[in-house]
Amino acid sequence: MERSYQILFEILYEKYSINEIVEMFEGPLRIYERDMLNYPVLDIGLGLGIDSIHFAKKGHKVFAVDNDDVLIKLFEIKIKEYEVQFHSKLDIEILNQSYPNIIIPETKLSLIIASNLFHFFDIETVRQSIIGLDKYLVQNSMIYIQVHSVNHPSNDLSKGDERFKHFKHYFKKEEVINLFYELNYDTIYVSEYNKLSPYDELNITKEWCVRQFIEFKKYKREDSRIQSFVEKNVKLSSEQCIIVIMRKK
Ligand SMILES: C[S@@+](CC[C@H](N)C(=O)[O-])C[C@H]1O[C@@H](n2cnc3c(N)ncnc32)[C@H](O)[C@@H]1O
Repeated sequence: MERSYQILFEILYEKYSINEIVEMFEGPLRIYERDMLNYPVLDIGLGLGIDSIHFAKKGHKVFAVDNDDVLIKLFEIKIKEYEVQFHSKLDIEILNQSYPNIIIPETKLSLIIASNLFHFFDIETVRQSIIGLDKYLVQNSMIYIQVHSVNHPSNDLSKGDERFKHFKHYFKKEEVINLFYELNYDTIYVSEYNKLSPYDELNITKEWCVRQFIEFKKYKREDSRIQSFVEKNVKLSSEQCIIVIMRKK
């Protein structure tokens, strides 16, 4: 994972417990979770593991996939902390694998989560991967997709900015839905929204900018330079995302 994300995750983990982070997050998936089948969940690109922990807390077995060793180690520690704090076991199996080459030791899933992952890949890779993942989904299983929109600030403001070179594709709503064109799915939720990244916490975004500035620019801490860097980057830290939830017919 990009070092910049690791910095953000370090800040969040310093400020909050994993349970607080999970509780902070409210997404549209919460509306549909009552209708979920009683099969495992697959979370691809787990990040802080917010969704993995949320669905494990709800009693689902979760396959949590990521290819970042540092992050996986951190996540293992966080799971243990949670289990000690709440005296309950979370049924999470961490798979250190690289999307799109994912193999799950399970034949049926209730939900696949691909949150903030697909924009790191070209759209054809994503399309093929969805065809591959389809075999794990049964009637009424869902797939949750969250991606950067074409209107994302970094699509425009950051041309030539090294920090954003890993974003390979910015999506339109129709493009996300069309990924399922040849498959048998209903679109049950579509939205595009803008929010300050990744939590509506200006202070966290500022702290993130400052630490990136210090780490990447390798300048000494000079308040005026940091201030102008933060102002420029808070703009880039706002996220314009598309969320789509599909349900298999
Ligand atoms: C931007 S974070 C998203 C985290 C979380 N899903 C969320 O929405 O908050 C992207 C995550 O995907 C992981 N990732 C990136 N490329 C990957 C790949 N090819 N295979 C597995 N995980 C990957 C990164 O390590 C990181 O944890």
